[in-house]
Amino acid sequence: MTSAKTGVRPAARASVPGKKGRLLTGDRPTGKLHLGHYVGTLANRVRLQDDYDCFFLVADLHLLTTRLENLAEIRDNIREIVLDYLSVGIDPRRSTIVLQSLVPQTAQLQLIFSMLISVPRLQRVPTLKDVMRDLHIQQPSLGLLAYPVLQAADILVVRGEIVPVGKDQASHLEVTREIARRFNEQFESVFPEPDTLIGEVGTLPGTDGKAKMSKSLDNAIYLSDDAATVTRKVMAMYTDPTRIHPTDPGHVEGNPVFIYHDAFNASKGEVEELKERYRKGTVGDVEVKRRLAIALNTFLESIRERRAKYRPSDVDEIIVAGSEKARVIAQETIELARQAMRMNYYG
Ligand code: TRP
Repeated sequence: MTSAKTGVRPAARASVPGKKGRLLTGDRPTGKLHLGHYVGTLANRVRLQDDYDCFFLVADLHLLTTRLENLAEIRDNIREIVLDYLSVGIDPRRSTIVLQSLVPQTAQLQLIFSMLISVPRLQRVPTLKDVMRDLHIQQPSLGLLAYPVLQAADILVVRGEIVPVGKDQASHLEVTREIARRFNEQFESVFPEPDTLIGEVGTLPGTDGKAKMSKSLDNAIYLSDDAATVTRKVMAMYTDPTRIHPTDPGHVEGNPVFIYHDAFNASKGEVEELKERYRKGTVGDVEVKRRLAIALNTFLESIRERRAKYRPSDVDEIIVAGSEKARVIAQETIELARQAMRMNYYG
């Protein structure tokens, strides 16, 4: 199918037979990943590798929108997060791991996109207000305002079609779609309007019982924690606060220890037995936690084994090779965009 107006094929979609749809998602490299990330997105990403041509982006430039100090540390964060990806089963032979700052075409595309969206539209993106409030920023920089435009460039520079993200990112994906639509209407159809895949996965509470596991709340169990650290954190976990003695009937629902058992203990039979005894008051918290520590360490053991296979130089090679592959696609995209804009003056 070609467009009558331009004679150019519409951007390839996931429906092309035999061709996998292109998926892109990413993270800012703010630190190592924990069990909450696993439940929230990583497990899903590992599954999505079967059905999509996946790109996983480490968005180091996005980090600059809120942080300009100690940037040398980010190098370790980048290696750490990529090692986390690899350790849970993101497979660099099937998926492409990309470092944002190694794809300069993204910045080039962001510049073009910045002409296609207004400042007041970006000022209305709800995450901007949230970040300004949380970080006490009075006047947003141009870069912070343009955060969603850079994200649009991340996705569209590889002509991504599917973007799995949390609910908090939905407003950014709306900006991406608007920009793609504006470009295609103004010039020629170069970009897909990507679909958002909002994960229906629950968030994991913290070890302290707070609603969310998070680094800043210091209530996280990391994918890279060793067995002794995991056991120590589990034994200190928040549990049913109404239960004083092990013989008191306890509450299973909403109890983080049981939420973790449900999420990570492979033996459903053991979990059911523990729940029943807990409700009756015939098992103490210490035993329930001991068994959780064993289950979690069993779950994490395969992750640790995979992690141990990669040397730092292997991780660097994966980042460099993935970014190189993304750059080739990104350069094609820039050329398509320049043709569409009739700006390919010299080829
Ligand atoms: N903004 C995303 C977040 O904070 C990270 C991100 C950057 C991203 N570029 C992306 C996510 C492109 C999806 C697609 O979580």
